[in-house]
Amino acid sequence: MNDDQSPAAYPDDAFAAIAPLVRGETAVWLRDPGLGLTVDAAPLSTDEIAEARARFIRFEPVLRALFPDKDWDGQIRSDLADYPMSSTPGLLVKCDHALPMAGSVKARGGVYELLCYVEELALDRGLLGPGQSLETLLAPASLAVLEAHRIVVASTGNLGFAIGRVARALGLQAEIHMSHDAKTWKKERLRAIGATVVEHDCDYTGAVARARQAAVAEDAYFIDDEDSRRLFVGYAVAAAELADQLSARGLTIGPGRPLIVYLPCGVGGAPGGITAGLKQIYGEHVLAVFVEPVASPCVFAALAVGQGRPISIYEFGLTNDTIADGLAVPSASPFVMQAIGRNIDAVVGVTDQAMVDWVRRAWAQAELRLEPSGASGFAALDPFNSRARAAGVIDSDAKPVHVVWTTGGSLLPEAEFAALLAP
Ligand SMILES: Cc1ncc(COP(=O)(O)O)c(C=O)c1O
Repeated sequence: MNDDQSPAAYPDDAFAAIAPLVRGETAVWLRDPGLGLTVDAAPLSTDEIAEARARFIRFEPVLRALFPDKDWDGQIRSDLADYPMSSTPGLLVKCDHALPMAGSVKARGGVYELLCYVEELALDRGLLGPGQSLETLLAPASLAVLEAHRIVVASTGNLGFAIGRVARALGLQAEIHMSHDAKTWKKERLRAIGATVVEHDCDYTGAVARARQAAVAEDAYFIDDEDSRRLFVGYAVAAAELADQLSARGLTIGPGRPLIVYLPCGVGGAPGGITAGLKQIYGEHVLAVFVEPVASPCVFAALAVGQGRPISIYEFGLTNDTIADGLAVPSASPFVMQAIGRNIDAVVGVTDQAMVDWVRRAWAQAELRLEPSGASGFAALDPFNSRARAAGVIDSDAKPVHVVWTTGGSLLPEAEFAALLAP
């Protein structure tokens, strides 16, 4: 296919939006600002998010006991840090790259779904009476029961590690199906904690399908990254955490001071869940900017070309070949697109070089240890703001609060990080 030609199934004007990505260039897609919020602006109820928050709190003593090596209170929570940047004064960073246990945003959704399963299983097997403290799960008799159960999940690395690490600590078996993009060191660290790594010679969409099949065959619990409300809710809990942190800084979001969040996006679950939570709190005063590699723009393609339905990026001659392993996804989650797709305000496709430049800059300027996926939000700042200002999406006199969500990297091994920093 010629770079400037639309595949027959799509109109040329829709294809024009994605054409720069096909040429390997940065591109911005903006939602029509006249649309306002749609009916499913908050696909989660406040009760659902409150319940998730309460479950995380119930599990704090268990997680603290399972991971006692650090001075940690059991809360899955990250800092909101200042970032010195002259072009974006007042820039803040939500440091999920340093989340406990996993070193990535996956400690939210992935671990949440695992905790739901463990609690259900414990009640079902009589390990836990209603209202009884979850610390009972740490007793040898409980751990022996959990040992007989298997969690199955597909991952490019970080989701599998978050789930695998906590599952193994609880005694559960963990089977992680990995796509060909997964880095060797991510597979090795999973094996080192006793997880079973199943390597697939296919992309992430294929790995999810194979993991789903394997889970049926084994009668295991499958965490479905393409279709899970629990994952989504787990991520959404981060919104209230951010809102508390903004209030504590005296930052009131509203007319004249919108909140703009820059969220690295793979299949869409993590940014989608966070967006759903934020839209529930701030409505139209929060703008959610999803960030994808130019070679793997699956949400970009769904919104710019697919009228909100997931479509395969291969249809446009895109390769899904990117240094950002966590974001190497060729087709968006149908669940996420259905739940929040119409409320995603923008998607920015960023180059591998821009992500690597930001890994280096964030380390040099602020000692943030990021992997390329986790640094991608920074790379979207300038392209988004110049397009959004020009298009009138941000009022000329508005003073937005910008939050770059750094989603992974604090557990990068030294050699991997040094290789990224090397010129
Ligand atoms: C570091 C990092 N950031 C962001 C994401 C995107 O999450 P999702 O695939 O749920 O969109 C991932 C996914 O693995 C990741 O590893």
